[in-house]
Amino acid sequence: MKQEKEKYTFNAAEFNEKVMKGQFKKIYPVIARQILERTGITSGRCIDLGGGPGMLAVELAKASALDVTVCDLTLECVALAKENSREHGVDGRVSAVQGAAEKLPFDDNSIDLVVSRGSIFFWEDQQQGLSEVYRVLRPGGWASIGGGFGTAELLQEILAEKANDLRWDKERKERLAKNPPGHFEAMLLKLGIEGIVERGEAGMWIIFKKSTILR
Ligand SMILES: C[S@@+](CC[C@H](N)C(=O)[O-])C[C@H]1O[C@@H](n2cnc3c(N)ncnc32)[C@H](O)[C@@H]1O
Repeated sequence: MKQEKEKYTFNAAEFNEKVMKGQFKKIYPVIARQILERTGITSGRCIDLGGGPGMLAVELAKASALDVTVCDLTLECVALAKENSREHGVDGRVSAVQGAAEKLPFDDNSIDLVVSRGSIFFWEDQQQGLSEVYRVLRPGGWASIGGGFGTAELLQEILAEKANDLRWDKERKERLAKNPPGHFEAMLLKLGIEGIVERGEAGMWIIFKKSTILR
């Protein structure tokens, strides 16, 4: 199902500076821990889809035995993810490749965990992307796809720090309004994927585990 495409003005280098050295840095260890606890997947192969400069991938690698591949649409992000994983000393277990959610460059049934933060809102075809995530997961593998800031407190801190950036908050709210839980629940239903869509103060996450009965 094609979505109405949002005008995308992502500046990878600026985002890298902002998140790695600024306001967002603190959310990634929290989100990584939440995903590991929720899914119970702590080793094997993980994809950080639309992983940008790879901050979530870096924190997942630090907090687990996972081998994480950042898969992102832009080569600039692939290069930044490699650089950041080197800087954090986890480049032995974090790699990066260029690829689109809608056509993942991974084999069927090959991945233990797919995570994705802040990216699905920009995918050209979200339903095709979710179908691809399901395809590459191994039976019993998990996906945690959505967006957010870890906890309500961290969101409040970031909102306070960004109090002068009215455009950022406006766009964030517009994205949430355009992507309500029912929008993704309907996609899961169409795809025959059993999952849940959680919407809390700290974010929105689509969570599913691939059936162990192969279809
Ligand atoms: C807002 S950034 C989030 C980056 C990172 N996940 C984070 O939380 O810091 C969105 C990322 O999604 C990537 N992206 C957008 N559409 C994509 C698609 N269809 N397939 C793969 N990546 C995509 C962009 O290149 C960008 O790096």
